[in-house]
Amino acid sequence: MPEKFGFQERVLDEASELWPIEYFLQKRAEWFIEKSGIEKYLKVGGQYLDVGTGRGHITQRVLADMETSGAPLKGYYGIDIAERPLRKVQKREATRLKKTTEADQGKNPMGFVWADGEDLPFQDGTLDGVSYIFSIHHMDKVMTGKVMQEAKRVCKPDGNIFVAEDIVDSDEQRKLTEDRDRLLNWEGKDAKHNYKSDQEWEEYFNGLGLEVVGRELFNSETRKGPIPHGFYVLRKKPEVR
Ligand SMILES: C[S@@+](CC[C@H](N)C(=O)[O-])C[C@H]1O[C@@H](n2cnc3c(N)ncnc32)[C@H](O)[C@@H]1O
Repeated sequence: MPEKFGFQERVLDEASELWPIEYFLQKRAEWFIEKSGIEKYLKVGGQYLDVGTGRGHITQRVLADMETSGAPLKGYYGIDIAERPLRKVQKREATRLKKTTEADQGKNPMGFVWADGEDLPFQDGTLDGVSYIFSIHHMDKVMTGKVMQEAKRVCKPDGNIFVAEDIVDSDEQRKLTEDRDRLLNWEGKDAKHNYKSDQEWEEYFNGLGLEVVGRELFNSETRKGPIPHGFYVLRKKPEVR
């Protein structure tokens, strides 16, 4: 079921629609697209899905960029288990469509829905790619395993699975990353995070029958120091296709 919000969460949720936060999310989307290089892995006319899409700024930006560069996608759908961010995305999309000319109505279909990554509303082998952008470390190990199996199920044999994640290989790095995560996501002190080092991520993907075919390492620069991230491009190993 979609999550329930208490009073504090509702106040923060309303505040999050203010323009400085929208502006920050748009700038973050541009930063992520540039650092990860995700667009170079997308196929013209391809259909993609982002799991744990939050407020969808990244997929919206990718769709617009691909359209502008003459390589439009058929779709970059977004799902999230949290209902409220998605309502904001739908509101934003409705406003965008109102401002769009009739001829352009069918372009950049956003297709945001509430769904759980453990049970994707897509048929087997139908998508060109599935992305998880800083969403996996919010899931526990059992859930992550199920979620990644679902990505393998819905991806075409030559489809890509994209994972952007925080990279942590020391206690100091863990604290810095976790403090930042809690701040950006307005999480409580009890929120758990499933971080890994670069090598541990690779071993983890291998264990799931996925090989790393592309990798970008980059940092978020913060006042307390850099926070490392990895963007992994994964393919099903031939034996699991
Ligand atoms: C840190 S946010 C990242 C949002 C977005 N990808 C971004 O980078 O801006 C993680 C998101 O994963 C979502 N999430 C966690 N578990 C999920 C699941 N099982 N299925 C779908 N979404 C999930 C959360 O609701 C949250 O919106």
